[in-house]
Amino acid sequence: MSVTQDILPFDRIPGPEGNVLSGLLPQFNSDPLGLLTESFRRYGDLVAYRFGPKLGPLKKTIIAAYHPDLVHQLLMETERTFGRDSDGFRATHDLVGDGLMTTEGSYWRRRRHVLQPLFTPKRVAHYTDLMAAEAERILEEQDRRVDQRLDLHHAMMRYSLRVVGRALFGTELDDVEGELHELIPKANRGIMARTTQIPKLPLTVPTPTNRMFLRTREGLYDLITRIIERSSAAETTGNADTIVSRLRAARDPETGEPLTEQEIRNEALLLFIAGHETTAMGLTFGLHQIGRHPEVQREIAAEIDAHHAEGGTAAEYAQNRETLGRAALSEGLRLFPSVHMTERVARVDLELGGYHIPAGTSVFVVPWVTHRHPEFWPDPERFDPTRFVGGKRDRPKYSYLPFGGGPRVCIGEHFALLASGVLLEALLRRHRIVSHDERISMKVLNSIRPDKEVWTTFEKR
Ligand code: HEM
Repeated sequence: MSVTQDILPFDRIPGPEGNVLSGLLPQFNSDPLGLLTESFRRYGDLVAYRFGPKLGPLKKTIIAAYHPDLVHQLLMETERTFGRDSDGFRATHDLVGDGLMTTEGSYWRRRRHVLQPLFTPKRVAHYTDLMAAEAERILEEQDRRVDQRLDLHHAMMRYSLRVVGRALFGTELDDVEGELHELIPKANRGIMARTTQIPKLPLTVPTPTNRMFLRTREGLYDLITRIIERSSAAETTGNADTIVSRLRAARDPETGEPLTEQEIRNEALLLFIAGHETTAMGLTFGLHQIGRHPEVQREIAAEIDAHHAEGGTAAEYAQNRETLGRAALSEGLRLFPSVHMTERVARVDLELGGYHIPAGTSVFVVPWVTHRHPEFWPDPERFDPTRFVGGKRDRPKYSYLPFGGGPRVCIGEHFALLASGVLLEALLRRHRIVSHDERISMKVLNSIRPDKEVWTTFEKR
């Protein structure tokens, strides 16, 4: 594309000035959401951020696109004019190898073809019973406890570990919970450290960060291999219809060949990492909000009671996308999108929001900020599930994108929403959520999460 007079040059994109040597890197590392939100308020829908020194080869300018129309262009054009080959993407690839989430082009397309049918609403509905059993188990465990206060974050991590684990592998993962909860935060820290490292050092350079990264990778591969072996043993007894068993039966659409064991391991590991924490975070922040809003909670409980009084089943309630319960979970994901930001890279010179963007430029897409865009979300900080009820959804499509969009939209969206709906139904049918803290104190890595306990009581109704 040639740069015409109507298109402004790249260096005219407004944005905050940073430190001469490190640019905005220190602010971004210490408070990314604060930096992005503030600069959106100040500079508008397209903002430039400089990372690294002001001059020289290490200078790097990243753009953030906040307006839904720009987000639309970025997401729909992914795999064409925009790619995913960002620093974060490469760091994730370094950790988990080739898989649906870490590749592009024909490899990604072939994987998507194999995995997509395993996550349709109809297919995912098969997991409703196991989700319901796990939701009951969480509630029973809590009912047996003497201390009525629980850490909601811990309980939701446990629930999602069990549902994602059983759907993927058909086996209990409780015995490796400790190992996983140690490895996954290390993996996330390692990915973040490699993503923001300037200059990038190859993994063969034995820095403390690189050594920790490689040890974590080894630990994860070892753990997932053990879990898959167990899962294969369950398959031979004939009673396991799991995502891994379906991956094993799948054929590559081009070659007609089955996936190798290593390919299955990579996909299983990626699905586990992508699905487990995100679902737990969505539930933690969503239930915390419901607990802070008793009037909303009463209405959802009344809706659940009425549904059962009319002879409806718990599964039907959880699968219904038009309930107030589902709207409250959606509103929770608006205010607290587990994946608070993602990144695209321009593959060619192009135009975005009236500016010239050179090939190779990284662009942030930030659901956290777009979900608070005052043009589309009046009083954006207010928790108001009715935003997602009936005719009120008259907004541009990409003003709401907790699951991304376009060809690389989250494959686990229906799974996550169903698992969340099942838990909410089971919980509010017999209990009331009391959230003790006004707000959750957060830490932000490659997703958002609480940085301490989220004290909560499930009171009997
Ligand atoms: C509330 C829960 C979840 C949230 C908020 C979430 C969010 C997202 C987002 C925003 C993306 C797109 C990233 C981008 O465009 O750069 C994504 C992709 C993905 N998600 Fe999720 N996710 C959730 C649950 C799950 C679950 C349960 C699974 C699987 C078990 C899963 C598997 C994936 C995979 C494999 C991709 C990559 C798809 C591709 O690149 O083709 N996610 N997710």
